[in-house]
Amino acid sequence: MKITFCCTDTKAEPWLAGLRAALPAAQVDLWQPGAPPADHAVVWAPPQQFFDEQTQLKGVFNIGAGVDALLKLRLPPQATVVRLDDAGMSVQMAEYVCHAVIRHFREFDGYEADVKAGKWSYRKPRSRADFAVGVMGLGVLGERVARALQAFEFPVNGWSRSAKTIEGVRGFAGEAQLADFLAASKVLVNLLPLTPDTRDIMRRETLSKLQPGGYVINVARGAHLVDDDLIALIDSGHLAGATLDVFRTEPLPADHPFWRHPKITITPHTSARTLRDESIAQIAGKIMALERAEPIAGIVDPVRGY
Ligand SMILES: NC(=O)c1ccc[n+]([C@@H]2O[C@H](COP(=O)([O-])OP(=O)(O)OC[C@H]3O[C@@H](n4cnc5c(N)ncnc54)[C@H](OP(=O)(O)O)[C@@H]3O)[C@@H](O)[C@H]2O)c1
Repeated sequence: MKITFCCTDTKAEPWLAGLRAALPAAQVDLWQPGAPPADHAVVWAPPQQFFDEQTQLKGVFNIGAGVDALLKLRLPPQATVVRLDDAGMSVQMAEYVCHAVIRHFREFDGYEADVKAGKWSYRKPRSRADFAVGVMGLGVLGERVARALQAFEFPVNGWSRSAKTIEGVRGFAGEAQLADFLAASKVLVNLLPLTPDTRDIMRRETLSKLQPGGYVINVARGAHLVDDDLIALIDSGHLAGATLDVFRTEPLPADHPFWRHPKITITPHTSARTLRDESIAQIAGKIMALERAEPIAGIVDPVRGY
């Protein structure tokens, strides 16, 4: 069995060594133009030329959870596209989102500024019941985030394409219930995949339905959010601020207003990083399962887009 590795912006050697150790019977090579056909590919942002040449692939394993960039390419029609299924990302996402919610809810930025100014001052405790958190996308990551928020007793709403039952989470589903979901939420956490249906989903029309003083946390993809609409709603006072980890253009251009907006906190697409050892173990297990024609989790539906 031949495995080809083609991951842009990734140090290849440790991945190749890890895949060889996990799949000792396989031949694992770094892809070069003109390389012979492989059975499976491990990829991140490969060029179109890769798929134009590798026409016999049975499995394409993406070393991330989001496949929006991959699905823009012409893929071999017979190949099963597989995304990372947690692999250590959901706990990172849960800690990032809980941190952002709590930092805002407890006004830690304000306390930090007070302390820097030598001020010993109290702020009025806020009511947790007034801080319902709405999680958009209740998949592998969204569900874990929803459960983690419950540990801090925030009311949690969830929105997904198909109806989902998660204990303690008020569920909303489909386009028809989006407005009610937003109206029931003060904090909005985005964990949707980027698809034609979800692009620009956080825009003036939707964000203005959040409760007054609303707060936005985007940890999915930059193209879910219309940047100018967010800034306008914060500057008008309808929204209190935002924590953003993902952007339409990455790295975020130096002149983008998000860098300097006092009510926007940014991080450089780091909320849930791909962990190499966990990912290699997961991918190796799935390659073996595919070879044995056994079912695996995390298969992407190219029509649905995730
Ligand atoms: N910032 C980072 O570092 C980072 C890291 C990893 C992932 N991500 C992003 O996080 C996203 C989610 O990952 P995941 O593993 O949780 O994905 P997932 O398991 O595929 O879950 C996706 C969820 O979104 C829902 N959904 C999809 N389209 C929808 C629509 N049109 N309307 C309403 N709900 C819709 C799905 O509904 P159903 O349950 O009905 O299918 C599902 O609940 C990824 O696609 C990626 O973009 C970001």
